[in-house]
Amino acid sequence: MLYRSVTAAALLAPSVLASPTSNGQNHTCKKTKVAILGGGVAGVTAAQSLSNHSIDDFVILEYNGEIGGRVKHTTFGKDASGKPLTVELGANWVQGLGTTGGPQNPIWTLAQKYGVNNTYSNYSSILTYDETGYSDYTSLFDDFENAYSVTEQLAGTILTDSLQDLNTRAGLTRGGWKPKKDMKAQAIEWWEWDWEYAYEPEVSSLLYGIVNYNTSFYQWSDENNYVWDQRGFNTWIKNEASTFLGKNDPRLHLNTIVTNVTYSDTGVTVTDSKGGCVEAEYAICTFSLGVLQNDAVSFEPEFPIWKQDSIDTFDMGTYTKIFLQFPPDKVFWPKDTQYFLYADPAERGRYPVFQSLDAPGFLEGSGIIFVTVVHDQSYRVEGQSDEKTKDEVMAVLRDMYGADNVPDPIDFMYPRWSLEPWAYGSYSNWPWGVTLEMHQNLRANVGRLHFAGEATSAEYFGFLQGAWYEGQKAGEIVAGCLKGAKDSSCVQDKHYAPLHGSTAVSEYDVQNGWTVTSFQTNGF
Ligand SMILES: Cc1cc2nc3c(=O)[nH]c(=O)nc-3n(C[C@H](O)[C@H](O)[C@H](O)COP(=O)(O)OP(=O)(O)OC[C@H]3O[C@@H](n4cnc5c(N)ncnc54)[C@H](O)[C@@H]3O)c2cc1C
Ligand SMILES: *[C@@H]1O[C@H](CO)[C@@H](O)[C@H](O)[C@H]1NC(C)=O
Ligand SMILES: *[C@@H]1O[C@H](CO)[C@@H](O)[C@H](O)[C@H]1NC(C)=O
Ligand SMILES: *[C@@H]1O[C@H](CO)[C@@H](O)[C@H](O)[C@H]1NC(C)=O
Ligand SMILES: *[C@@H]1O[C@H](CO)[C@@H](O)[C@H](O)[C@H]1NC(C)=O
Ligand SMILES: *[C@@H]1O[C@H](CO)[C@@H](O)[C@H](O)[C@H]1NC(C)=O
Ligand SMILES: *[C@@H]1O[C@H](CO)[C@@H](O)[C@H](O)[C@H]1NC(C)=O
Repeated sequence: MLYRSVTAAALLAPSVLASPTSNGQNHTCKKTKVAILGGGVAGVTAAQSLSNHSIDDFVILEYNGEIGGRVKHTTFGKDASGKPLTVELGANWVQGLGTTGGPQNPIWTLAQKYGVNNTYSNYSSILTYDETGYSDYTSLFDDFENAYSVTEQLAGTILTDSLQDLNTRAGLTRGGWKPKKDMKAQAIEWWEWDWEYAYEPEVSSLLYGIVNYNTSFYQWSDENNYVWDQRGFNTWIKNEASTFLGKNDPRLHLNTIVTNVTYSDTGVTVTDSKGGCVEAEYAICTFSLGVLQNDAVSFEPEFPIWKQDSIDTFDMGTYTKIFLQFPPDKVFWPKDTQYFLYADPAERGRYPVFQSLDAPGFLEGSGIIFVTVVHDQSYRVEGQSDEKTKDEVMAVLRDMYGADNVPDPIDFMYPRWSLEPWAYGSYSNWPWGVTLEMHQNLRANVGRLHFAGEATSAEYFGFLQGAWYEGQKAGEIVAGCLKGAKDSSCVQDKHYAPLHGSTAVSEYDVQNGWTVTSFQTNGF
């Protein structure tokens, strides 16, 4: 396992004076106004949001030894001087940037604020391969993109006319795209769809998949910038946290594994694996959908059916980057190209996209390339040994570039996101046929326990910006409640039970201020 294991060491932060309440385990509970469960983007942003509203009595309980959550890096390989290089295991791109003075992705604003090094990902800088080597099937990109335009418009019609959702397969078929057994077409489709959503078009929502794309890439800009900063992508999170958390701030409890959360209409009690306990007036749970699906934390009382069903219905995708370093003087792939797409003759999505970090503007001279798999291929790869995966990837590279040209790698590594007990997957995907109301049930509070994270964002699920906006919103709601607001700043999130059919979007807008309408006025 890649990640450092959590030690049984005491809280890094000095423990706070116990107050005379008991959690029934003969431990006294620390009292606070807000317990923030998880210190990823949503948790840190929720804390900042509270702080901005002058609520400073909160604690953040975080499993790992540092904040950032799924924005996580490690060292891999070495540069020419023997210094270890940093690569990102989780989030890697800022997706949809925006303009100075114009609408801008908050993650882009923050990445720029802290000078996070990044480079434009040029998706036209690509060469295509099959098991016989280089094979130019790039004309299929145009076929796909033509079908995609039809698919986007169809999603627009579904939205504006409140029609029933379809799966993305049906949308693409309407556009005339039918890859069937053509493995090259399947590779193109994987690049265009699965690579982003971590699931196949068959299981993905057409409507919300397109909403998700449109909100980031048409609202801001159609650019993805790849972060290769040697401090790690989470630099911006750490720096932003330090604007409202002091050094060794006692409110930040790292290496703290939450095991039990007891909630009601009057408060929330949180217990960790060492028996530590926090009694809060409100809590904001930012655990990933994977953590919620895997019963990694026990909630008491059990979630109501309307919430549990939505947790179980949404999809948690897995996205696995497999890193290889070759001797920098023996790089065998074209140096000025960013991407290499491989069409496996037998299995769709088997080692499909290789990405060079040796390309201009990235970690030039590093000899590093990595290949990404998702979903079933991730489960297979994450469930087998490094050695077996390395052999498989090397066989593919030798088919692509010729056995004589490809030396053995000098370093090899990949994370196992589907098995990580603090994530259980990479990011969520909206399954086809799931309504906005059911998604709202994932998002809604139960008693004084609120939820935030990438998965609770209807517009930006899967993206860093989703986690950021949802953290901000949850912080604002809880701050409103603590201030005893009677106005809209303490709105308990609406939930729907029982669920009926499909969403009447217009109605939903009015009740929740969801931004479908604003997408349209923004020219969508
Ligand atoms: C491989 C991969 C690639 C990605 N690529 C991109 C990308 O390029 N661009 C992009 O925008 N997004 C990307 N994402 C998605 C992005 O990383 C997430 O949307 C975002 O980081 C989620 O933030 P969050 O705060 O919602 O959740 P998290 O980051 O998961 O935060 C939740 C926190 O809760 C903690 N926690 C969990 N269980 C417990 C427990 N029992 N006790 C205490 N703490 C606990 C976790 O340690 C974690 O820190 C990627 C994700 C992955 C994994
Ligand atoms: C509870 O804690 C007190 C003080 O540490 C100790 O004396 C007592 O034995 C404990 N009781 C139980 C049931 O563990
Ligand atoms: C908190 O306030 C600062 C300063 O105005 C702002 O930059 C930041 O985005 C705010 N954070 C949230 C989560 O709203
Ligand atoms: C992207 O790559 C293509 C193909 O190599 C090239 O023609 C184009 O100029 C590049 N675009 C940018 C912005 O670098
Ligand atoms: C997405 O954007 C495209 C292009 O602007 C537009 O035709 C379509 O209606 C939009 N779809 C949705 C669901 O927003
Ligand atoms: C950021 O990029 C600059 C210019 O390439 C480089 O000198 C610097 O070392 C980089 N910093 C980090 C932390 O990656
Ligand atoms: C925590 O949850 C587990 C599993 O449901 C349960 O056995 C245990 O009693 C709970 N502990 C506390 C302190 O509530």
